[in-house]
Amino acid sequence: MLYNILRHFIFILSPEKAHELTKQLLKLTHGTLLDIFYRQKVQQRPVTVMGLTFLNSVGLAAGVDKDGECIDAFAAMGFGHIEIGTITPVAQHGNESPRVFRVLEGEGLINRMGFNNKGVDNLINNLKNSNFKGVIGINIGKNILTPIEEAKNDYLICMNKVYQYAGYIAINISSPNTPELRSLQYGKLLEDLLSCLKMRQTVLNNQYKKYVPIAIKVSPDLSDDEIKYIAAIVLKNKIDGLIATNTTCDRSMIQGMLHASETGGLSGRPLQNKSTLVIEKFAQYLNGEVPIIGVGGVDSVIAAKEKITAGASLVQIYSGFIYQGSRLVKQIVNNI
Ligand SMILES: Cc1cc2nc3c(=O)[nH]c(=O)nc-3n(C[C@H](O)[C@H](O)[C@H](O)COP(=O)(O)O)c2cc1C
Repeated sequence: MLYNILRHFIFILSPEKAHELTKQLLKLTHGTLLDIFYRQKVQQRPVTVMGLTFLNSVGLAAGVDKDGECIDAFAAMGFGHIEIGTITPVAQHGNESPRVFRVLEGEGLINRMGFNNKGVDNLINNLKNSNFKGVIGINIGKNILTPIEEAKNDYLICMNKVYQYAGYIAINISSPNTPELRSLQYGKLLEDLLSCLKMRQTVLNNQYKKYVPIAIKVSPDLSDDEIKYIAAIVLKNKIDGLIATNTTCDRSMIQGMLHASETGGLSGRPLQNKSTLVIEKFAQYLNGEVPIIGVGGVDSVIAAKEKITAGASLVQIYSGFIYQGSRLVKQIVNNI
């Protein structure tokens, strides 16, 4: 109810301004009496996935807190895990604004942010100041100026730096807003990237005496054959988890709606069924050997249950959180 009133005002602002303002308010109010407006108790529902114990099965998706600036405030909302990033080795501005659009009619968002972030070192400093006891996922990517053939170096630079601080590391190879990034999902580039990351995980495991699982984040725009191929490479390289899905380039679900023709990735309710189908297919090809984190249009208890029925062990939310606020976390955790 409170968020419905608040949303009315927040939605007067452009999506990106609203997002920045909200983060500033969270930073200012967290740890003060004012955090009563978003602090909430959710039931204890621990789940073990990728060998990690998550406080509950609902996480904050990557992109909400790219630089890990508000981890404790999001933790106060009851998230069982928080995925920060996508982070790149060097800070970058991302694409020109405006670069986020609300598709109000369909409760969706279109974004072409392009990995705007303050760089991996800044993220680590923010992490060191957080008190969150739940699982922190750190989502890593490549800088826009790094040629795709050298992309794996960017992932390795980030992995080396974040390893000791991460609960798990998410490998983002599916954002549609960094040119050619999605080509890392195919053929030799995928094989090469995953085998390198797996080897580095072994080295870092020995160095820090800590096993940090790696999960790859995939696109919802994959064909059945592509899903089969990715699943085979994931199994071959003993990748620990799969995050399905990122945003879609498909616009068929929002034809005729305002902003439908903006370029970028579409998320929220219009993505819901498409991402659930992708989860279902991955679950089939991964034979239950690799856990799946389901993300894409989770905006209700029913939508979360659909993801779990399709084969997800955990869910994450982004757009549903923007449209409904933190009560969505509580509703899902308490009713799943
Ligand atoms: C504005 C915006 C920024 C995003 N940034 C990232 C990102 O940096 N890294 C990433 O892996 N996913 C990013 N995503 C994708 C989300 O993590 C999520 O996979 C997608 O939005 C589908 O979930 P949803 O329907 O609950 O929003 C972003 C999504 C939005 C809307």
